[in-house]
Amino acid sequence: MAIRNMVYEGDPLLRKTSREVTAFDERLGTLLDDMAETMYQQSGVGLAAVQVGVLRRAVVIDIGEGKIELVNPMILETSGSQVGSEGCLSFPGQFGIVERPDAVTVKAQNRKGEWFEVTGTALLARALCHEIDHLDGIVFTDHATRMLEPNENPPKNKRRVTAHVKKSKAAE
Ligand code: NI
Repeated sequence: MAIRNMVYEGDPLLRKTSREVTAFDERLGTLLDDMAETMYQQSGVGLAAVQVGVLRRAVVIDIGEGKIELVNPMILETSGSQVGSEGCLSFPGQFGIVERPDAVTVKAQNRKGEWFEVTGTALLARALCHEIDHLDGIVFTDHATRMLEPNENPPKNKRRVTAHVKKSKAAE
């Protein structure tokens, strides 16, 4: 595993649409491992491949309940809404108030190409939306109703977080 160089705000790569992953090979595994290591090193809760300069539809998320790898993820369903602060490893030190769905169900492939579904609420729902946005060149500042001042403490999300991952063979 290796720490990869990050792509930061202002880099045109962050605005590009990432391509579908078609090869579920060792190279994809290495990319996902490196993305996780890079995310953990910076205490992030999510990272999209574009943020390490790879325009492929791959995401890693860990909100503290274990790592989730999402390849070619698609949002199937959303419900409710939550308003809270959000940041991004490509925008160090910046936080904004962003409205997101309160619950999100996503269909994705794992590193072997097997389809599964994950449903997340609260912070996980926020992370799923944020990272999938990255794959289409969308960043959180696009959604922010306002950015926090540098010395303003981001409001804490007090809601309990739930994640539910299930295997789905029908999802194709
Ligand atoms: Ni981000």
